[in-house]
Amino acid sequence: MPSPFRIAVLASGRGSNLQALIAARDAGELPVEFVAVGSDKAGAGALDLAKTAGIPSFVLNPRDFATRRDYDFELFARLDAIGADLLVLAGFMRIIDGDALKPWVGRMINIHPSLLPKYRGLHTHRRALEAGDTEHGASVHYVTAELDGGPVIAQALIDIHAGDDEHSLAQRLLAKEHRLLTAVTRLIAEGRLALAAPDGVELDGERLATPLRLAGDALTG
Ligand code: GRF
Repeated sequence: MPSPFRIAVLASGRGSNLQALIAARDAGELPVEFVAVGSDKAGAGALDLAKTAGIPSFVLNPRDFATRRDYDFELFARLDAIGADLLVLAGFMRIIDGDALKPWVGRMINIHPSLLPKYRGLHTHRRALEAGDTEHGASVHYVTAELDGGPVIAQALIDIHAGDDEHSLAQRLLAKEHRLLTAVTRLIAEGRLALAAPDGVELDGERLATPLRLAGDALTG
């Protein structure tokens, strides 16, 4: 039997994306082993989900470190020791030091609630509404030193409706985020996706001209 693909998930909040990954694994749709859930917040819901699922977890409190850099080097040292094939940032609300993350480039993905390169950073739903956009979405991208700036692997789109507010938009998008993150993680676990440094993505050895799109539960070119 080949050894299972090992993923670690970092999350600062409720962990609904983590929950979606666990559910997909449990349904036999995601061939991975969860080796760790890490958080910067002791109260993160993601930690409770990890506990319930029997996944080892840890908290690293930024207040215990003099600098962001010290924190990040310790975080990645831990993940190195655990030995993950892939790090999934699922609502991990921290900017990460570029030097600390360097060894993980190509092995770390993030889900961001906007159609990157639009709206890097925070308040993406509000910004899409304020701009009068007619569509919105989420992106999964490889993490590089540039905040929300690494090569985009895949996106899920939703229409913005006349009566939408930040909350309704976030809610509707979240359901798509769960499918998007699961589908991308599956492709990586199957060995089909790779970062084509510095700024491209390869699927089955072919460079993508544009990010993959979520259609239903599947990704299309
Ligand atoms: C998601 O909207 C994700 O895109 C963003 O943070 C949120 C995390 O939600 N980066 P959850 O903790 O997975 O429920």
